[in-house]
Amino acid sequence: MSTQPRPREALLGLTPYGSGRPADAALPRHRLSSNESPFAPSPAVVEAAQRAARDAHRYPALVGEPLIELLAARHGRRRDEIAVGSGSVALIEQFVRAYAGPGDEVLMPWRSYEVYPLVIAGAGAQAVTAPLTAAQGVDVDALAARVTPRTRVLLLCNPNNPTGEALGAAALDALIERVPPSVLVVLDEAYREFVTRADVPDGAERYRDRPNVAVLRTFSKAYSLAGLRVGWCAAPPALIDGLRRVAPPFPVSAPALAAAAAALAETELLAQRTAAVVAERERMRRGLGELGLPVGDPQANFVWLPVAAAAADFAAAFLAAGVGVRLFPGEGVRITVGQADDSTAVLRAAAAWCERPQRQRGER
Ligand SMILES: Cc1ncc(COP(=O)(O)O)c(C=O)c1O
Repeated sequence: MSTQPRPREALLGLTPYGSGRPADAALPRHRLSSNESPFAPSPAVVEAAQRAARDAHRYPALVGEPLIELLAARHGRRRDEIAVGSGSVALIEQFVRAYAGPGDEVLMPWRSYEVYPLVIAGAGAQAVTAPLTAAQGVDVDALAARVTPRTRVLLLCNPNNPTGEALGAAALDALIERVPPSVLVVLDEAYREFVTRADVPDGAERYRDRPNVAVLRTFSKAYSLAGLRVGWCAAPPALIDGLRRVAPPFPVSAPALAAAAAALAETELLAQRTAAVVAERERMRRGLGELGLPVGDPQANFVWLPVAAAAADFAAAFLAAGVGVRLFPGEGVRITVGQADDSTAVLRAAAAWCERPQRQRGER
């Protein structure tokens, strides 16, 4: 018998989260695999972080009070309805740990954000998945049918990562209505800023009076701060209280708090940058569609191509052309939207791949 410490059995079969790129591989010229912003933070944001770093011998605000205050004012909420964390992924983990444990079920559509199953296993709970629709969107009926007396949490990402499809207000209302009030609905809106479909709601606004709905947002995508790790949550005070029960002290560093506050003030820059990404997304969607590739209705800062058996070959051909995309073997590839030169490289690589005979494209 081994005398070494072993992680819990439930964790041994899991693949840790990763970019899919070997650690020692050179970075591709076009880094389109992690849904990052193509824009660096503004000089004012960098300066705010630098200024805060001068006091790095002190702990930051206990629960991120200054940023909470700003977010509450911006969204017309009370301070006890807002929490911040080290990326929204930390808040997802806190919610799952606080509300589900061994013997409990956490429901989610699948395929969805790869971190969800890891977090659920980490809490010792059971993941229950509902398949997507044929159009790669969340299937409300399939999810509702899988609610059991043991369901504690529903993790729902809108728009969905990696497929980019979004539920409109009517479908989302219907789903939330069909979930018992004792089930915590975590509505993960990491990509909300990129949504252009008029019927897709702002969940933080629409569900503010729902006692069982918590909405998550992040500074990692539209706000260009992935490297500083700041996410936030809007929820009724009772849910924020639940979240805080498993929160680490000082969850967000002082430079990150300062940078997020400065980024929040740059509303015009955010609008410009978001519009630029959306314009490139539409260009990619059109161009890939014209090549006959299966693009749906992407509502985030990425495009999903469910090319199934050809996915690995597609990703390899892209990498050879200097474009790094996220491969989901046997399912598809997800391509982050960047700037114009990124889209041009994507469209070129895709056209070259489509011109190759089917036999050479890994298709059967
Ligand atoms: C759906 C979804 N939620 C949450 C996150 C986590 O974002 P962060 O922890 O950087 O806020 C991501 C990141 O890719 C995501 O795709």
